[in-house]
Amino acid sequence: MSQSLPAILEEWKCMDEQYQNIQDTYKIYVQKLDEISKLQSSCSASISNQRRRLKEMTQSIKSNDLTAEEAKSIEEMNGKIKTRPNIFLEMESFLPKKNGIYLNLVLGSVNVTLLSKQAKFAYKDEYEKFKLCLTVILLVFSFICYFFINFRFVDAILNFLLVWYYCTLTIRESVLITNGSRIKGWWVFHHYISTFLSGVMLTWPDGHLYKVFRNQFIAYSLYQSFVQCLQCYYQSGCLYRLRALGERHNMDLTMEGFQSWMWRGLTFLLPFLFFGHFWQLFNSLSLFGMAKLPDCKEWQVLACGLCFLILFTGNFFTTVAVVRHKIKSKNETKAKNQ
Ligand code: COA
Repeated sequence: MSQSLPAILEEWKCMDEQYQNIQDTYKIYVQKLDEISKLQSSCSASISNQRRRLKEMTQSIKSNDLTAEEAKSIEEMNGKIKTRPNIFLEMESFLPKKNGIYLNLVLGSVNVTLLSKQAKFAYKDEYEKFKLCLTVILLVFSFICYFFINFRFVDAILNFLLVWYYCTLTIRESVLITNGSRIKGWWVFHHYISTFLSGVMLTWPDGHLYKVFRNQFIAYSLYQSFVQCLQCYYQSGCLYRLRALGERHNMDLTMEGFQSWMWRGLTFLLPFLFFGHFWQLFNSLSLFGMAKLPDCKEWQVLACGLCFLILFTGNFFTTVAVVRHKIKSKNETKAKNQ
């Protein structure tokens, strides 16, 4: 039903008022954005300036001869100086910064810093969900390849999926690191090696040696996907609990609750992880054995063997280091609370 002219004019007047409001709000928004960008530049510049001056100051302190009283105040100052770098790092994770070489190559110089804690958590949460979703797909795919379909073309699809998955992880993890995540460099490097390994597997021709190693590799992929599902469950659990804690690292009482959950998860997960690491070693030894055979002509055998060896070494020693570090901080928290 068409409206009468006065009603239309009335509605237009109302819309026009709304339009003026939108314009005013937008003007304020642009103004605030401008202010924010100025504040960001000034904060970043002040932090770099403070860093340089702190460095100079630390050097000049060393060269001085000090009396007992001076030494006491210098010690106090040193204590404060030591805490500053971490505080600056935390601040910088909320300030725009230049991308590293990898992100610059892949995304260009677009700003990937997320400016609030909620946005950072949401990005990490989405990363964990993406990992879980892809891992389940890979699990099902490997299962089908192992038990039902033995066809080189289908194996190639599985390997391509693995290449794409690991590539995507390296990009997402670089964004996470820019946003203050403490992911160890090894885990990112691990994903580069895994990308390369899956790429090499993709190019391995369908000969006798491929057939010999194929089932072992697919079974390993199946197992790894299974362990990654457990790992995703553990890491999402950590994330939700940390979010519930709100402020990280400085609420010891609730932190204890978090740590006890984390230890239960970790003690369950670790045997599976170590078994996976030794499977990687076993894969590498099998491939080195194969490379010695007189009919081995494919370079892929040695390349994959080396990749598995690097994966085993890095995974095993990094996991041991992570666990040792966690035991140390658990003991420190206990000692602090006693
Ligand atoms: N991949 C991606 N991110 C990882 C990671 C991994 N393998 N291990 C740890 N991280 C991230 C954590 O999510 C956390 O991120 P945040 O700062 O954004 O919250 C950060 O790194 C620090 O984690 P940390 O406290 O050191 O470890 P954790 O308790 O989260 O996890 C392990 C510890 C041992 C469970 C984990 O490192 C792991 O699963 N390692 C084994 C991986 C492996 O060997 N895979 C092959 C299986 S066959």
